[in-house]
Amino acid sequence: MYPKIYPKRLHLELTSCCNYRCLMCAHGYNSFGKSISSVVKSTIINELIPHATQMELQGTGESLLYDGLGDIIEAGEKYNCEMIIITNASLLDRGKMLMLTNAGCQIVISMDSPIKSTYEKIRINGDFDKVCNNLDYWKYLKNSMMEDHRAYFSINMVLCSLNYMQLIEMIDFSIDNCAEYLFVSEVRPCVLDEISWSKLTLEKIKETEEFKKMINDAQRYAEQKQFKIIFNFITDIKKEHLRNICLSPWEHVFIFASGDVSVCCEVPQIFGNLNENDFDSIWNGVKLNKFRVSMAVGEYNNKCKACCLQWGITHG
Ligand SMILES: C[S@@+](CC[C@H](N)C(=O)[O-])C[C@H]1O[C@@H](n2cnc3c(N)ncnc32)[C@H](O)[C@@H]1O
Ligand code: SF4
Ligand code: SF4
Repeated sequence: MYPKIYPKRLHLELTSCCNYRCLMCAHGYNSFGKSISSVVKSTIINELIPHATQMELQGTGESLLYDGLGDIIEAGEKYNCEMIIITNASLLDRGKMLMLTNAGCQIVISMDSPIKSTYEKIRINGDFDKVCNNLDYWKYLKNSMMEDHRAYFSINMVLCSLNYMQLIEMIDFSIDNCAEYLFVSEVRPCVLDEISWSKLTLEKIKETEEFKKMINDAQRYAEQKQFKIIFNFITDIKKEHLRNICLSPWEHVFIFASGDVSVCCEVPQIFGNLNENDFDSIWNGVKLNKFRVSMAVGEYNNKCKACCLQWGITHG
């Protein structure tokens, strides 16, 4: 007998279904999608959430499509879990906005452009006006919230060849919509074929003086407006590890909609499936312990060596 050990941070792909077909995402190219089974849902609610302090709802899908979302949020609130959801906001109607904000959930909306034509060119099936309408209700709530309310809203912009010149407008859009900050990351190859990638990549654009000036201008503009903008470019990732271990294998679990279990969304290893095995036998099992030992002795997985996550070994 030994005390069971549970992760503190849950990263949950409640569904891999999506109503959008964005140009930079797997959904733009393949048709797929499923939601977690009732067995997985029950493990999350009854076994994992009670031990967790943080929960991120996001995967290659749209969490607001999952019909059990309310139960997951309710359990998170009950156990005082910090919650964050990343969403395309198309289904973020008043009811869902209230459910999330009342539970203190942080809402991150993927916008990519403040201009309707560009937004809908990148976010295929997206309806810019509908998302803006949904945000209007956020503005109303934000203005009527108590100062110490935990819920906040921020914007994720994936920079690519189609939108990189819109940073200043995006800062204005974020401020107008009462966003806490704007997080700008660079489009990554992920699942894109060569032709699609060549149309979106910033690899060459990034080297130009015009681009560098634009980033500086955006940073200065945000400072003047006292607004927070955070950049995360893939070329900024150090190839050498800056810390010896990352805590993911010990403290962070990623659960796919299929029930597969990993330690983060980057590492390509699956350590078991919750539809076939109980959580304890996966989390404290031989396969995952071997992965932990490899990291502890500095034998890193190739994905770890190029990790883009803020807490990975490539970040100091
Ligand atoms: C995969 S989506 C899932 C959540 C939700 N469907 C959404 O779009 O917000 C999570 C985040 O990944 C970003 N993303 C998708 N494909 C990407 C890529 N190729 N490179 C960088 N970020 C990407 C999206 O813009 C979004 O902010
Ligand atoms: S909304 Fe999110 S999951 Fe859906 S296609 Fe776009 S990036 Fe992918
Ligand atoms: S270093 Fe990055 S890829 Fe590796 S386990 Fe940690 S978070 Fe995952």
